[in-house]
Amino acid sequence: MDKYNNNLEWRYATKKFDASKKISEGDLENLLEAIRLSPSSYGLQPYQVFVIKEPELREKLKPAAWNQSQITDASHLLIFANLKEIDKSYVDNYLDTIAETRNQPRQDLNGLEDMITNTVLNFSPEGKNKWATNQVYIALGNLLSAAANLKIDACPMEGFEATKFDEILGLNEKGLTTAVIATIGFRSSEDKHQYDTKVRKNKEELFNRL
Ligand SMILES: Cc1cc2nc3c(=O)[nH]c(=O)nc-3n(C[C@H](O)[C@H](O)[C@H](O)COP(=O)(O)O)c2cc1C
Repeated sequence: MDKYNNNLEWRYATKKFDASKKISEGDLENLLEAIRLSPSSYGLQPYQVFVIKEPELREKLKPAAWNQSQITDASHLLIFANLKEIDKSYVDNYLDTIAETRNQPRQDLNGLEDMITNTVLNFSPEGKNKWATNQVYIALGNLLSAAANLKIDACPMEGFEATKFDEILGLNEKGLTTAVIATIGFRSSEDKHQYDTKVRKNKEELFNRL
C-alpha cells in the first residue's frame, strides 16, 4: 500500500479525543487550506466553515449533538454551513472575482454565466440546498484526507440537530445552515475504536470494472 492509503487505513472516526492535545497553528492552517482548495460545482463554493475553539460555545452545542464527547474534547470543532439561497448577485460576485483574479474581461465569462443561470439558479430551493450540501461533503472529504496525511485525528459527524446549531451559531441571519460538522484533534489512548479492524466492501463488491 502506498503512503497515502496507509494513512487512510490509519485514520478512523475518532470517538474519544485526548482533550489535553491541541493542533498546532501551522497544522490547523494546512487543514483549512485543504478545505479552501476543495473543488466545487462551477467553483461556486456555496458554503462557509466555522472553526470553533472556544470551550463555552462547544459546551452549548454539545447537547444538540447527542452529547457526543468529541464536540468538547477535540482540539477544534468545524462547522460546515451551506448557503440556503444562491441568487444572481452571488453568481455575479463570483464571476467578477474570476475576471479580477485572472485579469480577464468579464464578458469572456458570459458562457459560464449562462450555464450557471440555466442550472443552479434554476434549481428549486430544495434543489439548491441539496446541490450546496453536495459541495460541502467534498470539502469534508478533503479535510479528512488532509488530516490523515498529517496524522491528525478527525471525526465527521452528522449526529446533531441542524436547527439548534443554526440557532446557537446565529446562522439563519447569515443565510446559512449547518450541513455537517467535524471534530479534529488527537485520539485518546483509551479509545478502543482505534483498534477496530476496518470494515469496507471488498473490491469485487464495490467496483464494477467494465
Ligand atoms: C457524513 C458522516 C457522518 C458521521 N456521523 C458520525 C457521528 O455523528 N458520530 C460518530 O461517532 N461517527 C460518525 N461518523 C463516522 C462513521 O460511522 C465512520 O466513518 C464509519 O463507520 C467508517 O468507519 P471509520 O471512519 O472509522 O473507518 C460519520 C461519518 C460520516 C462520513
